[in-house]
Amino acid sequence: MQEIKSILFVCLGNICRSPLAEGIAKQYIKKKNINIEIQSAGTGSWHIGDAPCENSIKVAYQNGIDISKQQAQQVKKNHFKTFDLVIGLDDSNISNLKNLGCKNPLKLGDFGFDGADVPDPYFFDGFEGFDKVFEMIDICVRNLIDEKLKYNV
Ligand code: 4NP
Repeated sequence: MQEIKSILFVCLGNICRSPLAEGIAKQYIKKKNINIEIQSAGTGSWHIGDAPCENSIKVAYQNGIDISKQQAQQVKKNHFKTFDLVIGLDDSNISNLKNLGCKNPLKLGDFGFDGADVPDPYFFDGFEGFDKVFEMIDICVRNLIDEKLKYNV
């Protein structure tokens, strides 16, 4: 089994969902004493350079994670060469990734939520629902790391 050295989480804007996945994963690998590269990106270009959305910063902060320094980036073909795992947050992210040439994107919801999409909270009304999104990402990211990084000692 391959030792995983890098993970890229991908959503649409890289300001709501994948920044949470990045922050949660970074905190979890630190706790497990594993050192690998973790980043997030969006398939869209609208928010390049932006900080995560206020509600994602807030829900992360409430859970002891600071994601406020992250800056959005757009996914590039080169990412598919440099990252061992590319993880989409919903089905549209997965199909966008495949259209961009990513051969084997995985879906985050397959790691604990029966393959469900992580809902896009960008269109939520205010903060309501962000805690559910956080919980779903948190569970799936931990399961993903436990499963995929079990050969990283
Ligand atoms: P995300 O949410 O994919 O979870 O970062 C979105 C953020 C921005 C947009 C769409 C989704 N947007 O259309 O600008």
